[in-house]
Amino acid sequence: MTTIIDGKALGLKIRGKIAEEVAEVSRKVGRKPGLAVVLVGEDPASQVYVNMKEKACLEAGFNSSVYRLSQSTTTDELLNLIDELNKNDGIDGILVQLPLPEQIDEKEVLYSIDPKKDVDGFHPFNVGLLNIGEDTLFPCTPYGVMKIFEEYGIELSGKNAVVIGRSNIVGKPMASLLLRGNATVTICHSRTKDIASICKNADIIVAAVGIPQFVTADFVKDGAVVIDVGINRVDGKLVGDVNYSDVFDKCSYITPVPGGVGPMTIAMLMFNTLKSFKTRTHQY
Ligand code: GUN
Repeated sequence: MTTIIDGKALGLKIRGKIAEEVAEVSRKVGRKPGLAVVLVGEDPASQVYVNMKEKACLEAGFNSSVYRLSQSTTTDELLNLIDELNKNDGIDGILVQLPLPEQIDEKEVLYSIDPKKDVDGFHPFNVGLLNIGEDTLFPCTPYGVMKIFEEYGIELSGKNAVVIGRSNIVGKPMASLLLRGNATVTICHSRTKDIASICKNADIIVAAVGIPQFVTADFVKDGAVVIDVGINRVDGKLVGDVNYSDVFDKCSYITPVPGGVGPMTIAMLMFNTLKSFKTRTHQY
């Protein structure tokens, strides 16, 4: 029997609980949590994501400010905006939507965000805290995957987990969070030899490689948990990094695309923004 993980329902449940807590804490503090989202340029996928983030903010009872900047924005212009947002006490979270246009120094921009407002968890200070096992703001997508494991009672301790992909946004923080959950973690990437045979030993596979339908039935051990982080557009249709119909019967749990990990990313962005708000207003 394969259980299809309903990330849409779980994401909405988490967002509902956040909205309740936001109402309560906002009353105490005398203001709402504020999230600033910065979008540079006209990347169509980024525009869709930013609109979804704005809608989720308003539903959760946050103040949302979206800064839409032109494709030709310079690094200095963006740094000036971030400096203003860092200093603005009503802003608890700052998210700069990636990718940025190529003239912009992405590292300089991400590193200029106040780590306490870094709701993406991309600042090296927060990356460091994640890796030494401290509590901090964790990157939303891998954190959402951890919430799935928790909600569905998927045990990590002592399990073999394979993460395919080593990006700073998903693969590396995912591996770090799995390790914190006491899994034995292997990271596969573009130079890894025979990824299929490594995956074949895995109790848990997290695919974050960005190649449509990369994971096929020969990668999957009977009873494995398969988490698909991929969002690829093929012939106008969204497909994941997993060949869903091919692997389905072998899995104990599987995430669909869409409706699996994607909605969890937004829910965890709301979670991080509320967390930052509570930390900054001493509500713990
Ligand atoms: N682009 C794709 N995923 C993400 C994300 O999690 N955060 C930001 N800021 N940009 C992204």
